[in-house]
Amino acid sequence: MARNMKSSTCTAPVNIAVIKYWGKRDEELILPTNSSLSVTLGQDQLRAKTTVAIDPSFTEDRMWLNGKEQSMKSARLRNVLREIRNKVRKRKADDETLSWKVHICSENNFPTAAGLASSAAGYACLVFTLSKLFHVDGDISSIARQGSGSACRSVYGGFVKWVMGTQKDGADSIAVQVAPASHWPELRTLILVVSDQKKHTSSTEGMQTTVNTSQLFPRRLLGMEEKMEQMEKSINEKDFHSFAELTMKDSNQLHSVCLDTYPPISYMKDVSHQIVRMVHCLNSICERNIVAYTFDAGPNACLYLLEKDVPRVLSLVTTFFPPKDNNMEKFIQGLPVDVLPPSQGDLAAIPMEKQTDAIRYIIHTQVGADPQVLDNSETLLDSQGMPK
Ligand code: DP6
Repeated sequence: MARNMKSSTCTAPVNIAVIKYWGKRDEELILPTNSSLSVTLGQDQLRAKTTVAIDPSFTEDRMWLNGKEQSMKSARLRNVLREIRNKVRKRKADDETLSWKVHICSENNFPTAAGLASSAAGYACLVFTLSKLFHVDGDISSIARQGSGSACRSVYGGFVKWVMGTQKDGADSIAVQVAPASHWPELRTLILVVSDQKKHTSSTEGMQTTVNTSQLFPRRLLGMEEKMEQMEKSINEKDFHSFAELTMKDSNQLHSVCLDTYPPISYMKDVSHQIVRMVHCLNSICERNIVAYTFDAGPNACLYLLEKDVPRVLSLVTTFFPPKDNNMEKFIQGLPVDVLPPSQGDLAAIPMEKQTDAIRYIIHTQVGADPQVLDNSETLLDSQGMPK
């Protein structure tokens, strides 16, 4: 019987980096070779939700993810639990809850098969929920970091940098909010989920091989701090043109060092390159950047743009990459938007072939808020601490 069960349920957002993390200087503690900066996305469209329960009657730590029980053998999962328990111990060495086992249940509101970085939201949510349950105060980003590097940035909403730090124990390798979501409310994101989702090299493995083999990689590191400063400035000043240029150049550089890795890693597919072409054609017609692309360790494109330009960009995306069934309501998910036919001027200036079914669907979202604590009625575990 789970009579003394205490539980907490929270949500945490996805983040997409505009200056990317790629490379570790410490694999165990997950300490990066460069600082990075990301935009936290809206949780209505993309979020992880986690319930953690503790009870003296639980006999072992257990976890369920999207309905399936997971092994607790993962070193990263164990490290995160250990770090939280260490914080509780520091506060009160004989806290009775320290010996209680946890039951964790987590789910995403977006399909895992979409190839979107779910580990960032997942680990951020787990650590945030644990911190609420165990009343842990202070920085939790350095704990989330030990689950998955990029997870430390999902601990905050808005615009977030992960300062690489210099200490050996990683105490100064933490996430810091650069600006809240309300700072740039016009910024929008379109995630173009491409159809070709074949299994690719994981980011963990890919970045390690890059560090070990790429000759261009040390050159990339030399420019990172300057790029971070420029990116922070462009965000502070809401200078979209420069924000977009820095974003696209950093994504291109990341994928260049991936190709320079031996054996080479190529995350971008044909359709990804077509999207890059379309974006540059459009920016060139406008004589300034109105849209930016960025790609993580997979072929999906994440476009950043301003609200006023969403209809124009979507009209082009849906013209060049239409869905098989022409069902736009299913194709464009998230924030509502009217899609109009593209202008003759845009069509004439962008010499591209139509590719039906190359993009599976689009998620339209905006800059999002911090992780949230939910009401007990939202729990994912029943009164026995088992998934509902
Ligand atoms: C390309 O955070 O998934 O998305 O720390 O090994 O778990 P681990 O890697 P992960 O890497 C993310 C890489 C990226 C860029 C970024 O998010 O900054």
